[in-house]
Amino acid sequence: MFGEARGSRGGPERRAGRTVSVDDGRVSLIDLHRPISGDVIDLILADHYLFEDLLRRLRNTAEDRDALRQAFMTLHVAHASAEESVVLPALRSRAKSVTEHEVEHGEEEHAEGHEALLAVMELKGTGTQAFDDALEELSTVVNHHLVEEELTVLNPARDEVGPVKRRDLGAAFATERNAIIDAGVTVEQLRAIVAGAKSEGLLDEEG
Ligand SMILES: [Fe+2]
Ligand SMILES: [Fe+2]
Repeated sequence: MFGEARGSRGGPERRAGRTVSVDDGRVSLIDLHRPISGDVIDLILADHYLFEDLLRRLRNTAEDRDALRQAFMTLHVAHASAEESVVLPALRSRAKSVTEHEVEHGEEEHAEGHEALLAVMELKGTGTQAFDDALEELSTVVNHHLVEEELTVLNPARDEVGPVKRRDLGAAFATERNAIIDAGVTVEQLRAIVAGAKSEGLLDEEG
């Protein structure tokens, strides 16, 4: 479980916001960062780079893929939740190009990402064809969302929301995001999030 300190061998150990994993002499460092201020667009983009980096590392069988998937889950839940509770409602009311459609579509794509991520988390091992297939699906869903969000939400926000408000939103986004990361995210919590999204109709086929 992410956030649960364990021994120095065979599992992730969290130190000051970092997961240090020592496994058969391999050491991997996963730093999810703790920004406390900044332009909300820059903070969101920094997380998007982090998602891409974690996905790239997850493809590498020499990496500690179990620690990486735990870190990805924590960041994905924290980032999506902070966007939905803090950023998207504010942009909806301040950026005329960010419509209700963009907000709802973003929530649907977060739900699709959570669902694809749950499939990765529920696999027992990380060295199987099933893991590679689930990782490929997760990468497809998440990369699609990052591209779309940057084109249809972040670009209008940059053009239509002033720098002072963007910094205010950045601080609020960081506070929400960091709180979830510090609390840690479990597979059980992710499963409940996916079940909730299903019952809200966010995962309907034609969504
Ligand atoms: Fe995002
Ligand atoms: Fe998003």
